[in-house]
Amino acid sequence: MPFTLPPLAYDYDALEPHLSAATLRIHHTVHHRAYLERVKALVGGSSLEGLPLDEIVRHAAGQGKSAPAPAARSVLFNNAAQAWNHSFFWNCLRPPVPGGGPLGPLLERLETDFGSVEGFVAAFKEAAAGVFGCGWVWLVKDEAEGERLAIVRTSNADTPIVHGQTPILALDVWEHAYYLDYQFRRPAYVSAVVDHLLNWEFAELSFEGELALHG
Ligand code: FE2
Repeated sequence: MPFTLPPLAYDYDALEPHLSAATLRIHHTVHHRAYLERVKALVGGSSLEGLPLDEIVRHAAGQGKSAPAPAARSVLFNNAAQAWNHSFFWNCLRPPVPGGGPLGPLLERLETDFGSVEGFVAAFKEAAAGVFGCGWVWLVKDEAEGERLAIVRTSNADTPIVHGQTPILALDVWEHAYYLDYQFRRPAYVSAVVDHLLNWEFAELSFEGELALHG
């Protein structure tokens, strides 16, 4: 694959006032691009060149549930996973929509697995606030748990796609995602995104398995 930076589906200022154009532009054009450039340099001329990003991530992780512990992961895994995570994350955001929230089958599963949408939101915010250091919080469908929905945290670049889980939503809680706008107030950033910017239509498609998540 060409490892080109995927364009966002919205303008850099479209998520204001919750996320500034400066934060979004730097996050996308500097951080995300850097991960892709490192992957491109690492796989150039190798047998991995030309593979979709998600396959490079799985290869670098040693495949699925036998993946090595995050601390033992390679430079290739860290950069490829971060590139994939960011592509997924951008799709999880959209400009604020009054009254926008989960609908249909995903709404029913959230109510079943978390008691209510409010229960999910509270648990997701708590999980995001509790990520130690750099990482991510995710809503996933876990095949090992009968496809039950779960909230999971991953450290650094780690990603649910090497743990037998299907991501539904992601939230980047690396400091580069919020420090310009919120400094040390991660919970304020998390609340702003969860309360105003989550793309529930994308989450529904992820839940229904209607996406080809190649990154
Ligand atoms: Fe990030």
